[in-house]
This record gives sequence, C-alpha cells and structure tokens, in this order.
Amino acid sequence: MATTTPTPLAKMRPNDPCWCGSGNKFKRCHKAATDRVVAGTISERRPVPSEIERPHYAEHGGTDDRNEPMVKDADTLERMRRTGRAAAEILRQVGEAIEPGITTDELDALCHRLCIEAGGYPSPLNYGTDPPFPKSVCTSVNEVICHGIPDSRPLRDGDIVNLDVTLFREGVHGDTNATWAVGTADPESLRLIRVTRECTQLGIEAVAPGRPVSDIGRAIQDHAEAAGFGVVRAFVGHGVGREFHTPPEILHYFHPRADQRMEPGMTFTIEPMIAVGAWQQKLWSDGWTASTVDGKRTAQFEHTLVVTDDGAELLTLHPDGRWSGDGGQPGDPLG
Ligand code: MF3
Ligand code: CO
Ligand code: CO
Repeated sequence: MATTTPTPLAKMRPNDPCWCGSGNKFKRCHKAATDRVVAGTISERRPVPSEIERPHYAEHGGTDDRNEPMVKDADTLERMRRTGRAAAEILRQVGEAIEPGITTDELDALCHRLCIEAGGYPSPLNYGTDPPFPKSVCTSVNEVICHGIPDSRPLRDGDIVNLDVTLFREGVHGDTNATWAVGTADPESLRLIRVTRECTQLGIEAVAPGRPVSDIGRAIQDHAEAAGFGVVRAFVGHGVGREFHTPPEILHYFHPRADQRMEPGMTFTIEPMIAVGAWQQKLWSDGWTASTVDGKRTAQFEHTLVVTDDGAELLTLHPDGRWSGDGGQPGDPLG
C-alpha cells in the first residue's frame, strides 16, 4: 500500500473518509471535534478549607506585587522545589483522568481536591480582577490558546486539551502545564503537540547564566517556524515565586529588546503556545479564554525552572523524571 500524507484537518471535507481509519465518513466520525469550542456552564465556586494557607488574592481577587526579587535565596528555592514537584504530580494525575466524555468541570473538581489533599491552594482560583479566574485549573481545548475556564463541555474524541496546574504551598507557586490528545486525534494535532513539547525543551536548553532571555525565544521560534507553525505573542513566560507572575518576562519568540540577563537563582516559567495557523488571538467575553482568530489549534507545555551555574534545573519535573502530556517518542529525550 502506498503511504499517504494525511489530509490537513482544515482541508477535510464532510464526505471524505475520516483520517482515523474507521472507514466512516468524516462528518459521521471525528468532525464534531473540529467544530469551534463553545462555552458551557460554569459551576459554583469550590470552597477551600480554612486551614489551607492562601495567597493574598484568595478572598478579594487581585494580581501581583511586582517587587519580589528575581533571584531567590536558598530557602525559597527549597520550598519551590517541593511545591513544584507536588504541582507536577497533580498535573500527572489530572491528566490521567482525560478521556472522551469527561467534562472540564470534572477535571477542575479533581485538580481542586488534589491541591487541597497536597496541603496547598489551587493558585488560579480567584486570581486576577474583572473578573477573577473562577476555577482551580485552566483547561484549554483545541483553538483555545490558554486560560480556558473549566465548564460543562464534555471532551470529545479527537480534541486536544491543555491542563495548566499551579499550586501555592509553603508560600510559593509551582506552575506547569501539558497538552494531551483525547482519544484518537488527527496526525496534524499530534505533530503540533510533539513540536510544542520540543519547543519547550529547546527553550529550557537555551537557559544559561549571563545570556539574555532572548536566547530562549529564539530557540523556540526557530523550531516552531521550521515545522511550519507560529508562536503566540500575547502570552509570555514569567518570573514566579511568592507571587504568581513577576519579572522577568520570557518571550517565546526572538526580540532584541528581551535583553534581561539570566542569573543563577532566578526562577521563571517557559510556556510556549504554538499555533497550526494564525498566532493572533482574541478574548472571549468571559474575560479570560483566549482563542486563535482563525479557529485553528494550539498546544502548550510549561515548566517552572531555576537558573543554575551552568543551565537550568526544572522545579516542576515529576519525581519519575518524565514529562506529562502527549508528544513523546519512545526513546527520544522528550519521551
Ligand atoms: N498558569 C497560568 C500561567 O502559566 C496562569 C493562569 S492565571 C489564571 O501563567 F488566573 F487563569 F489561572
Ligand atoms: Co505560567
Ligand atoms: Co501555567
């Protein structure tokens, strides 16, 4: 049999045979997963027991005190290692619950419970203003770039979903995310996930003391564009510690003015959002959900790290050393 290049999702017609190999017409098979994501219903706010230590915005909303030093002391780093590892374990466990039919609100309930069982606070809950984020995890499906609000929409076979978990414990945040295919996703979506994961890995490998943070963006942009994909500009990596989002700003594309030099002890995230089509974004009327302007898909992977004397130490690596999410190849360093 001849090898065929899969038809890009955008070019599939309703009566074409589905890419999944079922033999059914696309419209009777995976087409539903290519429709635009529509908001569902957002459930009531989930309570956090009073004995859990909260970030300052937990009651009244709010953003960040941007005076936190970028370079952390040894004690802060120890706390960030413990919190980061716990966040990675929660991301792994919530990811294991992904399957066709589960709602993003059910994933939120699980993430909320796991954060509390770990003795921490789910950082997204009530973060920000006008309005504060209402849930405990961000769930971003298909063309949603980031900050998707968990709701009553069931995940469908063929969707892709990013879970962005942040845990606040011992006075510091650990911020990490990954993207999964739900059931059987089309080949182009799987390639997007794999390339995005590689972009994150290459961004991390560009971390070195004395170098400007623009090295990170260059490494990510070069890899994404070589694969025919685009880099979302509107959302950036960020310093993190006692506060959720602080300087430095980590652009995921090259910009000569991103000239902040990396220093040992600096903690920040790298979290590229990579787009199949247009990288431009628009905001839903909920004030949070960001989607691509053309409705094509994006993927994202995120780690919190600390700059070391010769590179980076991942603070949100799972204790087993493996990344969460899809896109790893057996035997490759990302697997
Ligand atoms: N975790 C996201 C990040 O990577 C921030 C989410 S803010 C929220 O920076 F309010 F949407 F939770
Ligand atoms: Co982040
Ligand atoms: Co995040």
